[in-house]
Parts: sequence; C-alpha cells; structure tokens
Amino acid sequence: MRKITEKQRQQLIKAANRVRANAYAPYSNYAVGAALLTSSGKIFRGANVENAAYPVTMCAERSAVFSAVAAGEQEFNAIAVATDNGGTPCGSCRQVLAEFGLDIKVLIVDGEEKIVRETTVEALLPGAFSGGDLPDS
Ligand code: THU
Repeated sequence: MRKITEKQRQQLIKAANRVRANAYAPYSNYAVGAALLTSSGKIFRGANVENAAYPVTMCAERSAVFSAVAAGEQEFNAIAVATDNGGTPCGSCRQVLAEFGLDIKVLIVDGEEKIVRETTVEALLPGAFSGGDLPDS
C-alpha cells in the first residue's frame, strides 16, 4: 500500500468532504466528494454530476481521476471518498482507479469526517481486468 503522511490524510478527508458541497445531485440527493493525492503531492477534487438522462451521470472519483490526468498527473497515492453514510466507490470507479495502481490507498469517509474504512484498490477489486489481459499489450 502506498504511504501517505498523517497531514496528507487529514487534508484528503477534509477536501473530499468539502467538495461534496459542489456535487450536482438533484435526482439522488446523494452528494459524493473525492480527493485524489498525486505522487507530486497535489490534490485533485471531484464531485458527482448527475443528468436527467440518468446513465450519463459522472461519479466523484472518476471526475477527480480525469481531472488529474488532464493536468498531466498519472501517479496516485491515495483517494478519499466522502459521502453522508460512508458509501464505497462503485465498480466503474474501482476499475478506473485500478488502471493507475492496485496499491492506491482508498479512504472511505463519512459526513462527519470519520474514516469508515481504509483499504486499497486491490482489496476493493480483486482480480481486476488490466492492460496485461489484452493480447497485444
Ligand atoms: N456516486 C459517486 O459519485 N461515486 C460512487 O462511487 C458511487 C455513486 C454517485 C453517482 C450518483 O450521482 C449518486 O452517487 C447515486 O448513485
């Protein structure tokens, strides 16, 4: 599992909870915030953005990953995911995180900034499909 400092842990928890306020979730009313720590020490944030055409909705975690990649970052040490009730990342977000490292730390946080679970992408997505499974990789 990748290492993060106690200070970074606290920053991630706070950032994930704060960015929840920016979620656009008029259909589910389930606000999700994500804060992704890169190996360069930057934090990228994401919030869920829903759509009247429900499947078009984008999750907070993927939003954070895509934002980081667009900024030129591809090495991630940890992600904090905050919801009111400490919900865990969906399967699509687990798969997107797995692309960048099975050992990325995942902090699952509730609305009171309490860590409900501290785990890894590998533990959340055992047997992940990866680029290595493709014949010509
Ligand atoms: N959601 C996330 O943002 N991340 C997840 O990993 C699980 C689900 C969002 C999508 C939707 O806007 C709301 O939570 C309810 O599913």
